[in-house]
Amino acid sequence: MKTDGNIPAPAVRRLSLYLRQLELLWQDDRQTVSSKELGGALRLTDSQIRKDLAYFGQFGQAGIGYDVLELTTTIRRILGTDRNWNVLLVGAGNLGSALSAYRGFAKKGFRLVAVFDSDVRKIGKPVTSNPSLTVQSLADLEKTIEQRDIELAINAVPAEAAQEISQRLVDAGIRGLFNFAPVNLDVGAKVAVASVDLAVQLEQLSFQVSMSQTLSETDKPPRGRKRKS
Ligand code: NAI
Repeated sequence: MKTDGNIPAPAVRRLSLYLRQLELLWQDDRQTVSSKELGGALRLTDSQIRKDLAYFGQFGQAGIGYDVLELTTTIRRILGTDRNWNVLLVGAGNLGSALSAYRGFAKKGFRLVAVFDSDVRKIGKPVTSNPSLTVQSLADLEKTIEQRDIELAINAVPAEAAQEISQRLVDAGIRGLFNFAPVNLDVGAKVAVASVDLAVQLEQLSFQVSMSQTLSETDKPPRGRKRKS
């Protein structure tokens, strides 16, 4: 596998899309797939797919396409999902509870094995959405990370607590942080941080809709648009 050089982040992100599509094809008993078909299903060009995969090695055979199982296995290895990861979650609130209920993570090899919160009313009680997990006190954080060999953490605490908790997680040995709090974490370069902010995504969506509306307004009669006062 070729992993030298700088691989663009969008190419790595698209690997997850390729994997999901390949898994669907495998469920349909498909043995091979062409880059054209894969691209068609994902609304990408076949040359984009070939270019992305070329960052990681040589795949596929002319006239035959990609071996679905082989490419699936390879992409899982590249993404590090050919193994199971023990994951913890901090913040058993609205978001944390919803995430705890989602069984799809385990199917992808991400096993949520511990949930922590600072609220004494929640500690020692089952997570409302997933009674197989009990909310633990932060006093157990370091010990649990070590004993359960946890490498990834999901941060679902309020923004004001996020930096401190994240640093504590990193100091305790967490190697990858998934951050939902709307803050830019500073935890050093050795730790991988992935952040999701739906509000930012919605702003991008609103921008795109506003732009397309502005562009088409020259053609269409004006339509009532709600504005913030
Ligand atoms: P919430 O208030 O329902 O839950 C927060 C939980 O964190 C509570 O159970 C609270 O006891 C706990 N907590 C507070 N301080 C803590 C600490 N120092 N250590 C451990 N636990 C602590 O809030 P909600 O709605 O679940 O949101 C959680 C976070 O996720 C917030 O930062 C929010 O802004 C963010 N969020 C992000 C979204 C996104 O798209 N990225 C979407 C929704 C929420």
